[in-house]
Amino acid sequence: MQTTFLPPSSFSAAAAIPDMASYEALCAFAERDYQGYWGKLARENLAWRVPFTRVLDESNAPFFKWFDDGKLNVSYNCLDRNLENGNGGKTAIIFEADDGAVTSITYKELHAKVCKLANGLRARGIAKGDRVVLYMSMSIEAVVAMQACARIGATHSVVFGGFSARALHERIADAGAVAVITADEQLRGGKRLPLKSIVDEALALGGCECVRNVIVYRRTGGNVKHAAPRDIWLHDLMDGQSDVCEPEWVNAEHPLFILYTSGSTGKPKGVQHASGGYLLWTALTMKWTFDIKPDDVYWCTADIGWVTGHSYITYGPTVAGATQVIFEGVPTWPDAGRFWETIEKHKVSIFYTAPTAIRSLIKACETDPKVHPKNYDLSSLRLLGSVGEPINPEAWMWYYRNVGQERCPIIDTFWQTETGGHMITPLPGATPMVPGSCTLPLPGIMAAIVDEAGQDVPNGQGGILVVKRPWPSMIRTIWNDADRFRASYFPEELGGYYLAGDGAIRNKDTGYFTITGRIDDVLNVSGHRMGTMEIESALVAHPLVAEAAVVGKPDATTGESICAFVVLKQARPEGDAAKALAAELRNWVAKEIGPIAKPKEIRFGDNLPKTRSGKIMRRLLRVLAKGESVTQDVSTLENPAILEQLAKAL
Ligand code: WTA
Repeated sequence: MQTTFLPPSSFSAAAAIPDMASYEALCAFAERDYQGYWGKLARENLAWRVPFTRVLDESNAPFFKWFDDGKLNVSYNCLDRNLENGNGGKTAIIFEADDGAVTSITYKELHAKVCKLANGLRARGIAKGDRVVLYMSMSIEAVVAMQACARIGATHSVVFGGFSARALHERIADAGAVAVITADEQLRGGKRLPLKSIVDEALALGGCECVRNVIVYRRTGGNVKHAAPRDIWLHDLMDGQSDVCEPEWVNAEHPLFILYTSGSTGKPKGVQHASGGYLLWTALTMKWTFDIKPDDVYWCTADIGWVTGHSYITYGPTVAGATQVIFEGVPTWPDAGRFWETIEKHKVSIFYTAPTAIRSLIKACETDPKVHPKNYDLSSLRLLGSVGEPINPEAWMWYYRNVGQERCPIIDTFWQTETGGHMITPLPGATPMVPGSCTLPLPGIMAAIVDEAGQDVPNGQGGILVVKRPWPSMIRTIWNDADRFRASYFPEELGGYYLAGDGAIRNKDTGYFTITGRIDDVLNVSGHRMGTMEIESALVAHPLVAEAAVVGKPDATTGESICAFVVLKQARPEGDAAKALAAELRNWVAKEIGPIAKPKEIRFGDNLPKTRSGKIMRRLLRVLAKGESVTQDVSTLENPAILEQLAKAL
């Protein structure tokens, strides 16, 4: 028996999808007439400049096309449509700065800013199809920059502000960007962190000659180098530009953005999304999963550097005409009550965050009872959401009781950078919730669990999560690497199904999905996706490192933590020397990739556990990282003695 929580009837009464019968009716429509279903939704939910006549083109599978002879503009749908609907005076964004200062902006003002910047970008020769990299802090300007790119048909690629110069460089070069939009510095937890100087460093690494413009938002007024004519202040670029800008009408398949994410190899994948299908699904999930209403104050705590920030900050809330909070700071500064204080301050009604944040705030309350949510007025909340990693039932219950006061449904939304929007999630007014389960696929999402040969497995038996049919907001390709796209997501043995890369199991009685974690070499640390190979490549780039293997270790707060096993080119250090070198390597990884990729733990060995054919046995390393003793068969191991050496933490 699973513990089930029903949506409150008052919530259901006003919900977009009010009960399971309505959900099932939508699912049945999609089953019966897949193209009719999606075509109807796309006509009803988006404004098309040129209506499409084709819904889905599967002729070149898995390179699917949706609504591809239709023309639209994403920024027009997100901004102009709100002005036309009489929403111009409505607050679009409430910006809560790190220091608590608040700046609000209406849809009309947001539209004007986007038009000015779009005109400014055009004045610098940036046009449809050009790639623009953003390396920005959380700000109204970041949304403006993304929307301005969309307005002129430039394809943006946002790089998370925590990535290092090297990681940024790799992405700028791969995307072949003509411009970088950044800020002088960012403010987080009372600290100023550099952005522009990291861009300078990245561009100085060479191979980025394509970048002819660096546009800098002045956030802190910190001292930055200015290389004219390449560098220009954002305000200077916008100054004097008209606040009217004719949108670039693009085909529905036009690439809206590229977002780099981690895969099984060392090189990050540039996940390419289209315009029409992507926007359709962000718009629909705002209605269905977030049940967005005109009076809601919506807050998604993600960073715009991740897909959650794209779909559920920049595009979803604006296409839905919602009022949203955008937060610059960190959840634990000035204290761990910051989230609850901000909800109280802005009367947030829909709150969307990551399990890691919840777990760390639970911990914080234990040491400092003042920051417990019960000390804040959270009565404005009506819906809670979770994203990025599995939420454990204990954290779910705490969130439900203490934040939602048993009044707010929780949507545990399973999705990925590649899926563009929510895939498997409760509908807040309809689905009975079970802590730890993302429940059922959204209508039209043909999710299933199969074995390695692509055969359905019965409920109650774990397997591989797949999606059997293409859907509008799916990844279109990997930028510059169509072969990798096909091999990663549509492996032949699965017969045309989309491979999510996660394991899952369905409940015997309810059919509810529970995600059991990645089945590839991808880690999820604090909801951040990281490839073990990326971290290994960073480690072996250090002059002293001969070999490295990285595994995930379960962590009560961050979900997983990174544990690295390292073989040196010199004798294995011990004691303080080992600790000092481990610290040096951790900083090295921060410099190569970014602080989020720092291994929590490093162990040195004379070798790694390998099979006779030289393959590293990671499953043994995972056991050792957990501090457990190896009980598996190690007869295929070439060097069993090494296990003892690697079992000890420094
Ligand atoms: C994991 C984030 C369980 C999963 C939107 C997926 C989840 C990866 C959930 C994608 C959830 C995300 N329950 N696991 N509700 N949401 N994941 O691309 O492993 O940063 O494959 O997208 O996060 O991470 P990404």
